[in-house]
Amino acid sequence: MEISERSLQEQICEIGQRAVRYGLVKAISGNISARLPGADRFWITATGTALDALTPDDLVCVDLNGHVCGGSHPPSSEHQLHLAIYQRRPEINAVVHLHPPLATVVGTALGEVRPMTFEGNYFLGDVAVVPPILPGTQEVAQAAAEASDGSRVLVLQHHGSVCLGEDLEEALYRSIELEETCRLIVIARAIGAEVYLPGWAVERMRGHRYREGT
Ligand code: 13P
Repeated sequence: MEISERSLQEQICEIGQRAVRYGLVKAISGNISARLPGADRFWITATGTALDALTPDDLVCVDLNGHVCGGSHPPSSEHQLHLAIYQRRPEINAVVHLHPPLATVVGTALGEVRPMTFEGNYFLGDVAVVPPILPGTQEVAQAAAEASDGSRVLVLQHHGSVCLGEDLEEALYRSIELEETCRLIVIARAIGAEVYLPGWAVERMRGHRYREGT
């Protein structure tokens, strides 16, 4: 079904509310963007906005050359990261950057996020962990875009998550599943266990995962 730019904007606002409701981000942090399939511009949250109180007026249009093309506020400080991903991945239409506590701790402390459940593996696939780089820089944008070559789920160490999708729902589902996966990892470690999905299952599921593809 084709959607209009206006309804895309409304979806961004709704996804922001749901991300906060799921505890994936707090206060005025995180940012969300989306574009219509095939479009050469995307809409992104303005810098300093609360994701649970967004209105379409809080969104800014940025074209694929990085120029602001609509909206009345400055774009998110991470707009270069969103831009770099859209430039590199034509099939990606949504980027959700959040600060989920457990994913941030696990990705930073362990340097990897490996699903423990079949469902986690189904929704996440391979999770990329990006080393610590200052937020809002061209360097973090470049590193995230390169990491997205093999994954739609990234953890930026000491920072947060970046989940990609062909639409906003997909990017949000991945963000939720990432946090759930990390919750299970923390619980397992709390009882002294280190449990991951067996390698044979990861191999057997390749090619059979949620919207698999790089
Ligand atoms: P913005 O408010 O500029 O989007 O920044 C929030 C954030 O989470 C930066 O990583």
